[in-house]
Amino acid sequence: MIRPKRFGTQVALRVSKRDAREASGEPMFLDTRNYGSTWRDIYRLAISIVQPRPIALVSTLSVDAVKSLAPFSFYNMVSANPPMLMFAPAHHCDPAADHCLHNIEAVKEFVVATVTERIAEAANRCSFDHPPNVDGFAASTLTPAPARLVRPSLVAESPVNIECTLVDIKRFGKHPGAGTVVFGQIAAIHVSDGVLADDGAVDPGKLKAVGHVGRSAFARTIDRFDLPRPPF
Ligand SMILES: Cc1cc2nc3c(=O)[nH]c(=O)nc-3n(C[C@H](O)[C@H](O)[C@H](O)COP(=O)(O)O)c2cc1C
Repeated sequence: MIRPKRFGTQVALRVSKRDAREASGEPMFLDTRNYGSTWRDIYRLAISIVQPRPIALVSTLSVDAVKSLAPFSFYNMVSANPPMLMFAPAHHCDPAADHCLHNIEAVKEFVVATVTERIAEAANRCSFDHPPNVDGFAASTLTPAPARLVRPSLVAESPVNIECTLVDIKRFGKHPGAGTVVFGQIAAIHVSDGVLADDGAVDPGKLKAVGHVGRSAFARTIDRFDLPRPPF
């Protein structure tokens, strides 16, 4: 249970008193309009709410040909026609540490690999702040493989790699924590035969993708159920 007192003291954030609230059965209420310095608290709460999130393991290349690799769970498909996806790297406290974003701005290409149970630990290993000359593949112990249409590498150990070209970047500021949404057009998709279903889609039971559920918690996708779409 999240305790309201963990949130900032700014008057603008109106957190109901927990005891009174619990007695009345009222849910916690947080007015986040004037969030100010409490953005980290809101972030912690929000990422525990918006979950499970798929994880993009994003491979980029610097202008000096240094390979970068990092996981991002602010990630999703956003358009089928044209086929487009997005992910959102936030600015670090040191802007020089925003390697993935700098690389994409310069090279305008990236690869998104799916994070599966098998490579979850390796993907987590490359999520640290590092100087620009660090090879993200070496840090993660994952293996780069050549892409067909773009310069950044595929992740050989991932059964799914998506080659993307940069379409647009939407910024929400340049300060620490400010997200930047990167939109990429899907130029090519690689799928290992081992995870394909008979209908040509990926079988989630074979893929074993993992999701992010906040802080250091991850979720498996082994427990699923079907809900047929209602007739129109
Ligand atoms: C599972 C997981 C999900 C993450 N998701 C994000 C995200 O959506 N946005 C973000 O800015 N950082 C995210 N991070 C942290 C980044 O991986 C980390 O800041 C990394 O250094 C970013 O790469 P860069 O230094 O090349 O910018 C995540 C880390 C983990 C372990």
